Order: sequence, then structure tokens, then C-alpha cells
Amino acid sequence: MANTTDDPENVTLGSALEREHRDIDGGIEAFVAQLTDGPADPSPLMRAMDALRRHIYLEEEFLFPPLKAAGMTMPIFVMLREHGALWNAMDALDARIADDAAEPDAVLGACRDLLAQLDAHNSKEEPIIYTQADRILTAEASDELREFLDHGRIPEGWVCATAAA
Ligand SMILES: [Fe+2]
Ligand SMILES: [Fe+2]
Repeated sequence: MANTTDDPENVTLGSALEREHRDIDGGIEAFVAQLTDGPADPSPLMRAMDALRRHIYLEEEFLFPPLKAAGMTMPIFVMLREHGALWNAMDALDARIADDAAEPDAVLGACRDLLAQLDAHNSKEEPIIYTQADRILTAEASDELREFLDHGRIPEGWVCATAAA
């Protein structure tokens, strides 16, 4: 029997989104590993943060509204609040990276805090939210989300609703 898991059409939305979580974590971890050994190129971290901002956008724009409409109000509320905290943590980390006088230990600590926040968020989002995505989203909403996953870009200047002003 053919292995159908290699066909993108057969990958569930949940597993496609989980893959984004792993990739984002991986970028931050790569930077942390380099920084532990001395000065590090921030590119993997910056790419991971760009990917995380886009990931937050796609969840808030395409995934959460239909789940909220289906009655998952409280879990979505918690996810949105945590997105705000992640967004603020990324802004603070951006400022540290841009500051030549920033202590490497402080940057390292901020990266580890971001990873811990992501772990706490993703470990709820994956079992509670993502497992419902394929069940609740209509074919049209699901196609829209897949299309964005493949080609979409976060709109210029978009800011997560619950981030601090
Ligand atoms: Fe999320
Ligand atoms: Fe997510």
C-alpha cells in the first residue's frame, strides 16, 4: 500500500501547523546553540520570529474565527491572550538584538523565555485547538488556510490584537 502521508493533500491541517511550531522552535534553538558558544549570527532567530508572526496571523485570521463560531470561545480567548504575550516578547527581543550593548546572557535568557512561552502555548494549542481544525473547518475555510500556509504573507504592519500598544 502506498504511503499517503507524503502527499500534501493528505497531511491534516493540525499536522501542517504543528510542523510550523517545530520549524519555529528549531530556528530559535539554532540561535541559542550558537550563542552559547559566543557571538552568533541572529539570522535564524530573525527568520523564526518572522515565521512566528506569520503563524500567529494565520491562526487569528483563518483558524480561530470558525472554531470560535463553533463554540470554542474560552480556549480561543486563552490562545489570543498568549499570542499577545508572545508578540510582546518578540518585540522586546528585537530591541535587544538591535542594541549593540545588549549582554549576550540577557539575549540568551530572553530566547529561553520565548521558547518556554512557546512550549506552554503549543502544548495546549496542539491537543485542544489543532485536533478540532479538520473536524470543524468547512472545506472552503480549510482550503483558504492551506493556501495561506503555502503562499501567504502577513500584511504589512499587521499587529496581533492582544499585543500591548
Ligand atoms: Fe497560537
Ligand atoms: Fe500555533
